[in-house]
Amino acid sequence: MEYTAGVLTLSDKGALGEREDLCGPLIKEALLKAGFQVLASRILPDEYEEILVVLVDWVDRKGLDLIITTGGTGLSPRDVTPEATRAAIEKEVPGIAEAIRAEGLKHTPFAMLSRGIAGIRKQSLIINLPGSPKAVEESLGVILPVLKHALEKIKGSTKECAR
Ligand code: MTE
Repeated sequence: MEYTAGVLTLSDKGALGEREDLCGPLIKEALLKAGFQVLASRILPDEYEEILVVLVDWVDRKGLDLIITTGGTGLSPRDVTPEATRAAIEKEVPGIAEAIRAEGLKHTPFAMLSRGIAGIRKQSLIINLPGSPKAVEESLGVILPVLKHALEKIKGSTKECAR
């Protein structure tokens, strides 16, 4: 079965057209290659309310199975992606964010500065990635192999996990 996905880029400069969004297309490409149908992609400024509205809309109205966000996870005053995501989700999946940071730390100590989270709203999985192409590539490498199994579980599959 083909799962559906959305890619949400959070960047004030990107939303104003002052910076090209390299991360969104990178994620989209990787998801397509992995067999996902990418049905939505947008660039938004780092605005809590706007981000929350889109996350909720993409799950509740579009019914997307997976949403990957990129950017707005850092320590700057404008970085609010994790806060908006926390408001959208019902259950957190801390291991996904832990794996992303653990992989990142193999490449740069700055990986500890991403506050990204992951979690479940209804039957959809939302994952925050940092906002650089390098970070996106490193993070996708560790999460992509697990995503389909995660989605099967979210949707209630009782299939045995491989041991
Ligand atoms: N994670 C990986 N894997 N590789 C990276 O280069 N950059 C870090 C971090 N996570 C990085 C990374 C940096 S420099 C910052 S400031 C934070 O992600 C937050 O980035 P964001 O605000 O663009 O989301």
